[in-house]
Amino acid sequence: MSLLNNKIAIVTGAASGFGAQIARDYVEEGAKVVLADLNLEGANQIAQSLGENALAFKCNVAIKDDIDGLVNFCVENFGTPDIVVNNAGTTHRNQPLMNVDEKTFDLIFDVNVKSIFYMVKAVVPLMRENGGGVMLNVGSVAGIRPRPGLTWYNASKGAVNTLSRSLAVELGPDAIRVNAICPVLGETGLLEHFMGVEDTPENRAKFLTTIPLGRLAKSSDVSNAAVYLASDKADFITGVEFPVDGGRVI
Ligand SMILES: NC(=O)c1ccc[n+]([C@@H]2O[C@H](COP(=O)([O-])OP(=O)(O)OC[C@H]3O[C@@H](n4cnc5c(N)ncnc54)[C@H](O)[C@@H]3O)[C@@H](O)[C@H]2O)c1
Repeated sequence: MSLLNNKIAIVTGAASGFGAQIARDYVEEGAKVVLADLNLEGANQIAQSLGENALAFKCNVAIKDDIDGLVNFCVENFGTPDIVVNNAGTTHRNQPLMNVDEKTFDLIFDVNVKSIFYMVKAVVPLMRENGGGVMLNVGSVAGIRPRPGLTWYNASKGAVNTLSRSLAVELGPDAIRVNAICPVLGETGLLEHFMGVEDTPENRAKFLTTIPLGRLAKSSDVSNAAVYLASDKADFITGVEFPVDGGRVI
């Protein structure tokens, strides 16, 4: 049986990495999905490979009008979203905290945090009308156990993790479940930025020693969690910082 039959979902940052795999798995599990990304060409390619239950939409999640446009697009084409995955994110390169400039700080907080403020404003009234919904925010283990070199990114993901729990408390009475997914370092476009060094086997080995299960996160690890948490099997799960990290946060 498909876990997301007839559900309607929005996935941001769906042109690559974790978001692309979440979109693929959601469609495979029976959902209709809007794939939102700055990179329309990438989102379109994936949407087209998934058939009529997937549509791409160009959206900068750091802009309120873009988020409003995204939610309207979903409503007009598929209906009110049952599931929203706030996955789009960005980072500064791994470096000493004093070297990161204000413009970069603002970009990180606009894309990683303020985008969720805009999305909540746009989607919660619709979910309330609909009798409930699910929001998943892609936080990070970086927001639970920060490490040097990514301080401002870590802070943004700490905000994502905490706001997810706070939303869960406040939106519980509306049957809107909110959870944060917290991946460890993963094999995506952001990998070298997080490592701050070239992606070589020697450099990877240093990071792997801190992960008990001994490997990086795959997009499928994150999408499996995103399918479960969005499905009715997780009906009583809300306000969780869900590590997908091979034991990294222990
Ligand atoms: N890769 C990791 O190690 C790791 C670990 C923990 C958390 N995360 C988080 O996972 C999420 C997905 O990242 P990923 O690792 O798949 O990287 P990725 O670079 O492969 O994918 C990120 C996607 O977001 C899109 N995007 C960036 N800024 C955007 C904006 N303003 N509006 C719309 N789309 C935008 C990009 O175009 C890209 O398609 C991010 O929130 C990231 O912080 C990643």
